[in-house]
Amino acid sequence: MTEPKPHADTADPSDSTDWWRTGVTYQVYIRSFADADGDGLGDVEGMRSRLPYLAALGVDAVWINPWYPSPQADGGYDVADYRDVEPAFGTLDEGQRFIDDAHANGIRVILDIVPNHTSDRHAWFVAALAAGPGSRERARYIFRPGLGADGDEPPNDWEATFGGSAWERVTEPDGTPGEWYLHLFAVEQPDLNWDNREVRDEFLDVLRFWFDRGVDGFRIDVAHGLIKDPALPDLDLPEDHTPVISDRIDHPFWDRPQVHEVYREWREVADSYDPPRTFVAEAWVANAERLAAYLRTDELHTAFDFDMVRAPWRADALITTAQSSLESHALVGAPVTWVLSNHDILRHVSRYGRVQPRRGEDAVDVFSDPVGTPDVALGRRRARAAILFELALPGAVYLYQGEELGLEEVEDLPESVLADPIWELSGHTRRGRDGCRVPIPWTESGPSFGFGDAKPWLPQPAAWSAQSVEAQDGDPESMLSLYRDALRIRRSHPVLAHPVVAHSVVEGATSELEWLDMGQEVIGFRRAGGFTCIVNLSDSDIDLPAGDIVLTSVPVTDTIPSDVTVWLDTNTARD
Ligand code: GLC
Repeated sequence: MTEPKPHADTADPSDSTDWWRTGVTYQVYIRSFADADGDGLGDVEGMRSRLPYLAALGVDAVWINPWYPSPQADGGYDVADYRDVEPAFGTLDEGQRFIDDAHANGIRVILDIVPNHTSDRHAWFVAALAAGPGSRERARYIFRPGLGADGDEPPNDWEATFGGSAWERVTEPDGTPGEWYLHLFAVEQPDLNWDNREVRDEFLDVLRFWFDRGVDGFRIDVAHGLIKDPALPDLDLPEDHTPVISDRIDHPFWDRPQVHEVYREWREVADSYDPPRTFVAEAWVANAERLAAYLRTDELHTAFDFDMVRAPWRADALITTAQSSLESHALVGAPVTWVLSNHDILRHVSRYGRVQPRRGEDAVDVFSDPVGTPDVALGRRRARAAILFELALPGAVYLYQGEELGLEEVEDLPESVLADPIWELSGHTRRGRDGCRVPIPWTESGPSFGFGDAKPWLPQPAAWSAQSVEAQDGDPESMLSLYRDALRIRRSHPVLAHPVVAHSVVEGATSELEWLDMGQEVIGFRRAGGFTCIVNLSDSDIDLPAGDIVLTSVPVTDTIPSDVTVWLDTNTARD
């Protein structure tokens, strides 16, 4: 493989096998990033053409949402073949060229692996339907007879995350109504049986297939799923349960202890490569301790910290969340992986632009359709402050395409274009996730603001002309410039660039970070080595503490206004 090269102008802290401890990874939602062949859908060649943009942004890696052949019942998370590239996106050769070119640009490549379920068009599932009950082919999935005299009731009361029963009845090869199969997501996404050795071996082989092609790591889809209680007990769900998170310790399908065995095997494969490959888990679990269990030294390297996504824009909530994540991760020597947005949740400009939950209220519900109208300008101001807060914390960071442009959620997409299966499966009661998946505006004009030559698969708001890369490029005060400045500084700053290999927990702080007492509505922390970050979440200006200004989310003079973050070097006092 071609080794990733460090960016030219920096002492690159990530030029090591430990790059994932501090690295910044940019998430590319391939359908919506760049369309090279003019069919309205993003593709591999489009992504490749934008590598210079990503290199100039200063990211260490890209994570690409599933690019495999797929009927696209769920945006590619219904994989029909794990060892190829979806023809609408490109070819395997183009995929290889992308990996090589990314490396030549100093960017690592993280693919997305979907182990909980396949597509119903995957060869294994097609064979399972044809082979009938009791077959080896069915044993790769979770088939059960139905309940009731005619077997026409589902095996239990589990619900699919997207709505409706988690069971679908099949017609047997002889034409009679037959067994049911489990699908925790869409009907087109049958769950695999991870108690079956053949399934485990197949995925070890898929990992090797891509690692052999130079892929640097995987994001693991629904990493907390996979293992089901073989007794398949009823859940007796309350009416208003949250779909993918559960506080239950012994939940029959989320976050079961046996799932850790799977990742211990995966880690062995990753470690057998030079340089070792890495993993990041998507695991919606009950709390930071449960998440850290996935990051023990013989398991996964990193896992998204979704507690920060659910935290309201309030100093107490952000401090508590950050501290609890830092502490629980420190106990296993793993970095926290901070994230503000992704392709499944409301964009953070639109979250922070809304009235925030008060103390004592529940965390932000990132899965339901939003209520009310956001103040987008306020959301952008807070998003600027939020990214500097996040980038100043010890740990790794994931960015979601378009956040560097300050894009908001598109909440008024016409119903006729909605493509997320949630829209249909919820009986048109939840619009779903399309609003954060609208194609990126590259230029100020043109039929799709430079996304491609054709009408894009989802329409872009007219106001995105002003949010385009072209519009923001030369403007030193744009969101794009802020991201470029922040990432450049983060890569070379003696404190921020320091890879934190392990912290210890010292009385409400970690050895890496000390919280400053700045009142209830201001966040302040000092990193070991003399760097201070202040975020003013109060309504009024506060005095700027002593120190040399490194970067600010908006220009400041002697005070820090509301919703503004300041980075200071505090090794030397200002006067
Ligand atoms: C993950 C993905 C989401 C997908 C689901 C089912 O949560 O991020 O987009 O719909 O898994 O694969």
